[in-house]
Amino acid sequence: MKIIKLLKKNEFIFFVLKNTQRIIKKIFQGLFIFTGIDERISKIERSLVYEYSSQNFQWEKNCLNGQKFRKKIITEILSKINFTNIVETGTEYGFTTKYFSQFCKKIITIEKSKPIYLIAKKNLSNDTNIKLVLNDSKNLDKILSDENIKFKDDENTFFYLDAHSDDDYPLQDEIKYIIENYKNFILLIDDFQVPEDDGYGYDSYRGKKLNIDFIKNLISNKKYTFFPSVKSNEETGRTRGYIIITNNYDFKNILQNIKELKEHPI
Ligand SMILES: C[S@@+](CC[C@H](N)C(=O)[O-])C[C@H]1O[C@@H](n2cnc3c(N)ncnc32)[C@H](O)[C@@H]1O
Repeated sequence: MKIIKLLKKNEFIFFVLKNTQRIIKKIFQGLFIFTGIDERISKIERSLVYEYSSQNFQWEKNCLNGQKFRKKIITEILSKINFTNIVETGTEYGFTTKYFSQFCKKIITIEKSKPIYLIAKKNLSNDTNIKLVLNDSKNLDKILSDENIKFKDDENTFFYLDAHSDDDYPLQDEIKYIIENYKNFILLIDDFQVPEDDGYGYDSYRGKKLNIDFIKNLISNKKYTFFPSVKSNEETGRTRGYIIITNNYDFKNILQNIKELKEHPI
């Protein structure tokens, strides 16, 4: 210790020591990001803050990112179409899941972080029509097969894909799986870039924006795509962008009649 104290008195050695320390710290931070540990720690922190700030479960205010036009659009869709199942990836505290539970007899929601899952479990404990699954949504195929939800002609499924995070992007596989396996679906992808309105927030993955180009090769012909027509500065809440996709002609007609949506040919 004495030697280090003495060395630190020398300006040059102090400079070298401090910078070596800084570089080692950066390498460790990089390793943390690479392994996803930093994200896991931040989720534990978030769930502790949620638990100890004795927040009420304010799902009506917080569902669908608190976006009033998004809520109006989805409420119209869920009221007009009889969905057999609603599938949500990324439950978080269960705000949107609780909102969905008003419209459908079976909601499946998937959360991969255990501390967050436990909070959602408590928040949704009275809702018998919600199946909360602790799993990674990259296992969507297996999870939904176990729930016996697959490819039935007479079943309509609404998907709400909201499980993407910086180090984990199962989205393309999820979309591919849905398109290949479901006859009648409406699919909403959250955090998606809205063309000509960057006031809506969106994600990126490995430097690529989450936009039409990112998913284009998955949703080629016979799919109908829609974006919000309402300007981002009129929206409330977190103002995240989204896209709505369907493969069903009748659903497309319903979406075309919602004035807060505009069709985007691909
Ligand atoms: C933006 S939050 C979801 C918000 C929620 N859908 C709502 O509207 O209230 C994203 C959640 O997805 C979870 N998540 C991230 N990647 C996941 C994955 N691969 N599988 C399942 N959950 C994941 C995160 O832990 C986080 O709780």
